[in-house]
Amino acid sequence: MHREREQWGTRAGFLMAAVGSAVGLGNIWRFPYVAYDNGGGAFLLPYLVALLTAGIPLLVLEYTIGHRYHGSPPLAFRRLHRRAGVLGWWQVAICVVIAAYYAVIIAWAARYAGFSVGQDWGDDPEAFLLGDFLQVGDAGWITSYVSGVLWPLVAVWVFVLAVLALGVRRGIERANRFFIPLLVALFLVLVVRALFLDGAAQGLEALFAPDWGAITDGTVWVAAYGQIFFSLSVGFGIMITYASHLHRRSDLTGSALVAGFANSSFEILAGIGVFATLGFMATASGVAVADVAQSGVGLAFIAFPEIISTLTSGAGLFGVLFFVSLVIAGVTSLISIVQVVVSAVQDRTGMARLPAVLTVGGGIALISIVLFPTAQGLHYLDVADHFINQYGIVLAAFVVVLVVAWALRRLPALRAHANLTSTVRLGAWWQVALGLVTPVMLGWMLWDSLRQEFEENYGGYSDGFLLAVGWGVAIGALVVGVLLSLFPWRDRDTFVPAELETVGGRERA
Ligand code: PFF
Repeated sequence: MHREREQWGTRAGFLMAAVGSAVGLGNIWRFPYVAYDNGGGAFLLPYLVALLTAGIPLLVLEYTIGHRYHGSPPLAFRRLHRRAGVLGWWQVAICVVIAAYYAVIIAWAARYAGFSVGQDWGDDPEAFLLGDFLQVGDAGWITSYVSGVLWPLVAVWVFVLAVLALGVRRGIERANRFFIPLLVALFLVLVVRALFLDGAAQGLEALFAPDWGAITDGTVWVAAYGQIFFSLSVGFGIMITYASHLHRRSDLTGSALVAGFANSSFEILAGIGVFATLGFMATASGVAVADVAQSGVGLAFIAFPEIISTLTSGAGLFGVLFFVSLVIAGVTSLISIVQVVVSAVQDRTGMARLPAVLTVGGGIALISIVLFPTAQGLHYLDVADHFINQYGIVLAAFVVVLVVAWALRRLPALRAHANLTSTVRLGAWWQVALGLVTPVMLGWMLWDSLRQEFEENYGGYSDGFLLAVGWGVAIGALVVGVLLSLFPWRDRDTFVPAELETVGGRERA
């Protein structure tokens, strides 16, 4: 268990990787719609409050746990308290589920980058997506495989596993140092082009026109905390893992501020690009922006193709820029989430990197390839995504915060640890944010989504399907996490957090 941990080459490398993980599909296809739907310009206020009172404090918490305890989530939590390792295994199981379906969306986007060149979707992008391309069948057992999705999916996995096999510095860091600046450059070109489209102003007007009344609406606040939470990749254990490879003297709080603001800046940029484009579409078809605004799969794979086909010049290029941006944003996030699982298994078994990547990464790839490039793949993805986010990520984060802040009362020691090496000192507000604001908001989010779950079936699916693919997967992740944590660790862990003396706390559990 005491192999030397690999370290990042530079602080910039770590930051690029952290930003690469945070900037994902959620920034491009989720933020614009959530902002629009929850008060537009006025949403930015709850959004900023959520960033400062929960997002950045949680980022600092994850960085500090990873840095102080020097391990992937199961090892780091176990070092925090002998019995807390189960929290880490739960996160690992959740990461397996997310990685398996997230990869498929990247594969679709890669194919669509190709389709953009000749606008292969013809004049009915929806029929093309669901019929020709995905060949969607009824929700249920797998009925057939879709080769047009299968081979790009295999390619995505080969690429991601190759990067991971090269290691933290030569693989993850180098990939992010290349891809993140490229993503920003491509996306800037896209946004500038979008701003010159007819109707761009109407789109921006629709996005940013503030509906101040929204601020007094509780659901708008829940949406703001929800968006910040997903968008920053907190609660996955990713940031614990990435921070475990930091040098002893690293600026934790400063890095969290940089990563948090970089992620939000990209998100707002995406909002501008997407709504300028939607404004063009609304103008071209003579309807209101409200009628074309949507998020997720529908935005990227139906609305955007329609828009691309409407462009009179540079349509192919516009499409390629958009879909390649999605691919890059997705791949850098996928790398981070698979690394959590690989690193956890390495910490647990002492396995070297290459065999760990091949067995663990290969295993996840196999699950992904068996389940998702199928006629049922879209249904599985839709339901698994909804349930694993709400009752996996959010629930696990809620439990982690309660355990760390209230059951174990470790916030003072962690705050002291972060303050030892950080340029920005954490004040008492950090403990208030994590001990009070964050659990209240996460609890409220959970309550709100549970209420909706029982009001109507998610996505109109049958009870049986939701039970198997939704609740089954979310509860399954918890059960697998508990089972994994039951295997006794063989050797005694003699690790002692480095600055124990200075903190002077009763650290050993
Ligand atoms: N912040 C990421 C996003 O916006 O898409 C969240 C994420 C999802 C990270 C899936 C990693 C991942 F595999």
